Amino acid sequence: MTTPAPVGCAGLPGTIRCDRTAAWQALRGHLEAHGRDFDLREAFARDATRAAALSFEAPEVFADLSKNLVDTATLRFLVELARECGLEAQRDAMFAGAPINATEGRAVLHTALRAPRGAAPFDQFADDVHRVLDAMLGYAEQVRDTDRSAIRHVVNIGIGGSDLGPQMVVGALDAYVAPGLTMHFVSNVDGHDLTRVLKRLNTRETLFIVASKTFTTQETMANAEAAKAWFLAQGGSDIARHFVATTTNVEAAARFGITTTFGFWDWVGGRYSLWSAIGLPIAIAIGAAGFRALLAGAHAMDRHFAEAPLERNLPVLLGLVDLWYRNFHGFASRSVAPYHQGLARLPAYLQQLEMESNGKRVDLAGQTLPYATSPVVWGEPGTNGQHAYFQMLHQGSDVIPVEFIAVRRPSHGLADSHRKLLANCLAQSQALMLGKRTEEARAERAPTAAQDFDPDALARHRCFPGNRPSTTFVLDTLTPTSLGALVALYEHRVFTSGALWGINSFDQWGVELGKALANQLLPRLASGDTQGLDGSTAQLLARLRR
Ligand code: F6P
Repeated sequence: MTTPAPVGCAGLPGTIRCDRTAAWQALRGHLEAHGRDFDLREAFARDATRAAALSFEAPEVFADLSKNLVDTATLRFLVELARECGLEAQRDAMFAGAPINATEGRAVLHTALRAPRGAAPFDQFADDVHRVLDAMLGYAEQVRDTDRSAIRHVVNIGIGGSDLGPQMVVGALDAYVAPGLTMHFVSNVDGHDLTRVLKRLNTRETLFIVASKTFTTQETMANAEAAKAWFLAQGGSDIARHFVATTTNVEAAARFGITTTFGFWDWVGGRYSLWSAIGLPIAIAIGAAGFRALLAGAHAMDRHFAEAPLERNLPVLLGLVDLWYRNFHGFASRSVAPYHQGLARLPAYLQQLEMESNGKRVDLAGQTLPYATSPVVWGEPGTNGQHAYFQMLHQGSDVIPVEFIAVRRPSHGLADSHRKLLANCLAQSQALMLGKRTEEARAERAPTAAQDFDPDALARHRCFPGNRPSTTFVLDTLTPTSLGALVALYEHRVFTSGALWGINSFDQWGVELGKALANQLLPRLASGDTQGLDGSTAQLLARLRR
């Protein structure tokens, strides 16, 4: 028997896919009337209140949206779109534990992981969640006491959501990491990844965390087996003490020989799992109090998302602007530029969060979508990106909205460096917006070596179109609390655009085909059998075996 097609785009009565709303048509009209020629420089000149009117406060995060190609009318239409699509009902269904991940028949309850005891509506999960959390944090504190535990190296073996979140957070909160502890992350099935780490370790001082929701992922299992073999070959004997698992598949961890396991539940998606036992490396690195602060920051953002009116709801507004850019302006990517070295892995983390969640082309009812969904999300920390690809952001043929993340107070004492960092951050968003007119470029002195170059042509090389959009987030300091809030902000923003697009942001069927084919090719790499393969794959396989 087949399951009946869901009602509304999210399976909830009263929800409508974005393109079937009146607001979508109104936004089309708005774009034609005001949007296509929208000029940021003119908008600021026209309206002295623009910066304040388009800036928003959410817990721990200030967001200046005023350098975006929107005005207050655009936001009004977008909020209307959210209302018509039933965003609030969809959001409430997620918080209430409805099985909104319909293609996997699961609830989506990562928000329950960061809710304090007694927070409605999570009572039914609170006992389990807090039991595991308390046990996990107690264990983390023991490991962290390096004099007693003798552990100096912690190796997290996991991939995707079982790697990116913990790795990103541990890197971001480096200032909080216990001295004497070195955290390592091994994800790639490429043996170079594990080998690079193992050569720095000894068995006595090492703890391996095998992190896998399913405990079946090829890469993680291969690395875990290889780590176990290394451990035994080096004379290590106490697997139970030196290997721990974080997984929903406790039985498989036991079969591997692991006796200390921290579990979680199928309603925690892999890319939303850093708040669960998957966060064990974070808890070891920054301690129980730090981990609780991370959860508290995320919970504060959950409350904001759940309660703030849509007009001032930051994740909602960001998701709406994302949709505006993708579907009305046709911008295909967004660049993230954290001006904090600690956030170096944030773009990689966001790639999974956003592109695995919203990289879909059918709605929940299986209908092919007539519009684009997830943009490509990419980036590097500033100022490094400036010396690599910012050329393209300023003068390339595509408009790519940029997201700047500035942190007011650093955790180091190099005040002059920090001022330079912030000046660069502000300058880049300013340059993207203001540009430089050809006449201004023509008035500049040409480089001596280019004196013979046609001055008009040179001015065209040296001018900047400007009017390129950006958002700037400001955090006061990068702490467990502010990072928790920032990450939850991104999660809910992705939820918002996914909900309006009518897709299931919580499955990831798109990763399955490649996994299955890799399993079929694996024995062929050993045997050399290319029968039945397409010509290209057969040729490449033969060459790789030579
Ligand atoms: O391949 C995609 C994926 O399923 C991600 O969604 C997930 O985060 C990752 O693999 C790792 O999965 P697991 O935690 O089960 O090893």
